[in-house]
Amino acid sequence: MTGRPRTDRAAVITGLGGWLPPRVVTNDDLAAHLDTSDEWIRSRTGIARRHVVDPGTGTATLAVEAGAAALKSAGGGDVDSVIVATTTPDRPCPATAPQVAARLGLGAVAAHDVSAVCTGFVYGLATAVGQIAAGIADRVLVIGAEAFSTIVNPRDRHTAVIFADGAGAVVVRAGAPDEPGAVGPCVLGSDGDLADLITVPAGGSAQRSTGRPAPPEDHYFQMRGRDVYRHAVERTTAAAQTALDRAGWRAADVDRLMPHQANARICAAVAERLGIGPDRQASNIERVGNTAAASIPLLMVDAAAEGSLAPGDRVLLAAFGGGATWGATTLTWPVLPAV
Ligand code: COA
Repeated sequence: MTGRPRTDRAAVITGLGGWLPPRVVTNDDLAAHLDTSDEWIRSRTGIARRHVVDPGTGTATLAVEAGAAALKSAGGGDVDSVIVATTTPDRPCPATAPQVAARLGLGAVAAHDVSAVCTGFVYGLATAVGQIAAGIADRVLVIGAEAFSTIVNPRDRHTAVIFADGAGAVVVRAGAPDEPGAVGPCVLGSDGDLADLITVPAGGSAQRSTGRPAPPEDHYFQMRGRDVYRHAVERTTAAAQTALDRAGWRAADVDRLMPHQANARICAAVAERLGIGPDRQASNIERVGNTAAASIPLLMVDAAAEGSLAPGDRVLLAAFGGGATWGATTLTWPVLPAV
């Protein structure tokens, strides 16, 4: 396995957009009703504030906003496929992507969701790479969107301080593997024996088939934080290193490490293990929190806007999430219109 498509049709990033719901929640806001503090949250996670949806706003709305921005950045036009990576679909059934495609006026295109929690964007991007390589699509809209605050238990200080809402999206088009923006080798992995590390225990078929109601807290997101930390550092580092090897890059070649913004300490530990110094790490977790599948494209939006991500930069993407799942890829940053 090389992780490289076995055709000369690469997926090339040609549009980028993001959207954050307007409501901002600071650490002090959380500390007003939770036994926590700004100091604890900043020092353990690197987060100072985050955006959360207003009542009545679901993931599709965030995805439509980010998708519209990415399509605009790509100069408009049609796509053949819409992929929405999310942990918080509007409904358990059907998928959110068809509704997003319809609301964006994209017609009768292929549309489906990807469920890989915080690795969702990398899995979604890899799916787009596959669709383009196979000739199934010429242009794909890949969106990571999360209304994560809707599944976090507001009384659970272990998770309520970390996760947040938002959406980011890219448009990829068929192109050549050596073009700027061409997605490189995609490394994907999973370990289902770790399914209990990050879970919403109730609401799925395993619980519903018991015929018994679940305790209310089982309908909320639950996380074994210390175990997640350990596995996230190990797996994200290994996936990133494999992506580098398959691309023929060394860590010294990377201009910008763009890891899933899980937690500032996890990102720093991964960078240190890879040998990528702080000056080459992109980060926006302080102002957006952990937005799961939306995290990497939102980081791209912020880094591109502030100029820390420039055309020609060699970029390494890497993520770890529930499942457990992990993934990584490389690309050279293309010229994109301002977003
Ligand atoms: N505010 C204040 N205290 C808190 C707290 C909060 N928000 N959350 C936990 N604590 C307390 C714990 O109750 C515990 O207290 P105790 O020793 O009296 O029992 C103490 O802080 C240490 O808890 P622990 O869970 O061991 O803290 P930690 O140093 O491991 O940090 C996480 C907790 C969640 C920040 C850390 O485990 C982590 O980053 N895990 C990965 C989470 C993550 O990134 N998930 C996303 C992956 S995609």
